[in-house]
Amino acid sequence: MMNEELSVSAAMEEARQACLALSGKKGRKLRSCVVTFGCQMNARDSEKLRGILEEAGFEDTESEEEADFVLYNTCTVRENADQHVYGRLGILTGLKKKNPDLIVGLCGCMMQEEHVVAKIRKSYPVVDLIFGTHNLFTFPELLARILRERKRVIELWEGTDRIVEHLPVKRKYAFKSGVNIMFGCNNFCSYCIVPYVRGRERSRDAEEILNEIRSLASDGVREVMLLGQNVNSYGRTIEGSITFPELLEKVSGIDGIERIRFMTSHPKDLSDDLIEVIARHENICRHVHLPVQSGSSRILEKMNRHYTAEQYLALTQRIRDAVPDVSLTTDIIVGFPGETEEDFEETLSLIRKVKFDSAFTFLYSKRSGTPAAKWEDQVPEQEAHRRFDRLLETVSETAKEACARFEGRVMDVLVEEENKEPGFVSGRISQNITVHFPGDTGLIGKIVPVRLNVCKGFYYFGEMVR
Ligand code: 5AD
Ligand code: SF4
Repeated sequence: MMNEELSVSAAMEEARQACLALSGKKGRKLRSCVVTFGCQMNARDSEKLRGILEEAGFEDTESEEEADFVLYNTCTVRENADQHVYGRLGILTGLKKKNPDLIVGLCGCMMQEEHVVAKIRKSYPVVDLIFGTHNLFTFPELLARILRERKRVIELWEGTDRIVEHLPVKRKYAFKSGVNIMFGCNNFCSYCIVPYVRGRERSRDAEEILNEIRSLASDGVREVMLLGQNVNSYGRTIEGSITFPELLEKVSGIDGIERIRFMTSHPKDLSDDLIEVIARHENICRHVHLPVQSGSSRILEKMNRHYTAEQYLALTQRIRDAVPDVSLTTDIIVGFPGETEEDFEETLSLIRKVKFDSAFTFLYSKRSGTPAAKWEDQVPEQEAHRRFDRLLETVSETAKEACARFEGRVMDVLVEEENKEPGFVSGRISQNITVHFPGDTGLIGKIVPVRLNVCKGFYYFGEMVR
C-alpha cells in the first residue's frame, strides 16, 4: 500500500468509530444523502463519496429530509449551476431549523473558487463541511472530525499532483461503471473554468486502470465508460508513454467487458490511430462525443480550441468513413464574446452538415478568472437567447433525421432500467441512443436484440426479438 492509502484506511477507521458513537446515541443507523451536480466525472466522484460513507457505517438515502448528513458534490461550469446550489442551501437552512443535528457538506468544483467559499463562510452558516476536488480522498478524515467535533471544517487544496487509488466505491449501477483514466485539463479554452478548479492534467497508471476494469468485470460489470476531460491526451503526463488508443485496445481485450465508451474527446487530439482502434473492435461503442463549441473558425480561435471548422468537418468525415454506423454528438456554446450573426450562422451550417445524433447546447456563461470573462464584446443577453432558440430548433431537426436512420433495424440493447410506463424497460444501443420496449425488470443488465420500430426524435420505441 502507498502512504496515502495507509492514511486513508486509518482515517476510515476513525470515521467508523465516530459514526458508531453517534448512531449509538440515536439508536439507529445514520443516513447520508449525496447529491450530484454536473458531469460524469462528478457522478463517479459521488460513487467514491458514497463508498466512503457506506464504509463509515452510513445508510444511503435519496431524501434530504431523512438524512443526518447531506453532501452536495457541486459543479461550476456555468453560472446557473452555482445559483442552483445557493438556492438549495436556502432550503437546507429551513431543514436544519427543524433538525439541528443535520450536517451539511459541500465539495466539488465550485469549492475550488475563492469567492464561493468566502460567500459561504459569511452568508451560509448552514454549511458545516467544505472540501475540494484535489483532496476528495481526505473525506474520511474530515468526516471523522465533523462527526466528533461539530465545528465547521473547511479544507481546500490549491492543486495536487497525486492520484490516490483504491478508495471505496458504491456504484449506482451493477452492470456499468465509469472509470477515471485522467484528471484535470491543460487546454485552457478561454471560456472554461475547469482547468482552474480541476487542476493540471494527470493520467492514471495504465495497470491500475486495467486492474480496476478486470475487477469490475468479475463483479458483473459489462459496460465501462473511460472518463477524462480530454481522454485523447491520456498518457502524456506519465513515463513509459502509453497513448489513449493503446489503452483503449487493451481495455477492449478484457474478458467480460462487452461495451466500452469514453468521454470527452477533444477534436484537436483525436488521432487516426484512435479511429482505427474503434473500427477494429466491436466492443468499442459506435459513439463519439466530440464537442465542437462553434462552427466559426474565427470564434474557435478566440476560444483557444486549436482547430478550424473545416478541420472539424474533415475529422468527422474520417470517423464516419472508418466507422459507418457511428453516432456523433457534441457540445455547442452560443453567445461567446464577439460572436456575430455570421459566426452563429456558420454554427448552424456546421450542424446541418454533420447531422449530430444529439447536441448539448449552452448559453455562454461568464466565469470569473477565465480570459473570456474580461472581454468587452459580450453578446447582449436577449440576442444570445434568440440564437439559443434557433440553435435548439436546428439541432432537433437534424438530430431527428440522424437518429431515424436505424428505424426498422434489430440492434443490441443494454437494458438499464425500468420505465415509468409499467411493463416497459429502457436501455441503449451501442450508439448511445435510448430505446424503450415492453419487458420486465429481469432484463436489467442484459444485452438483448430489439427491433427499433419508431423513432421519436432522440429515442426509439421498439420490441424485443427472440
Ligand atoms: N459557458 C457555457 N458553456 C460552457 N461550457 C464550458 N464552459 C462554459 C461556459 N463558460 C460547456 C462546453 C463544454 C461543456 C461541458 O460545457 O460546451 O464542452
Ligand atoms: Fe474546459 Fe476546454 Fe478543458 Fe474541456 S478541454 S475541460 S472545455 S478547458
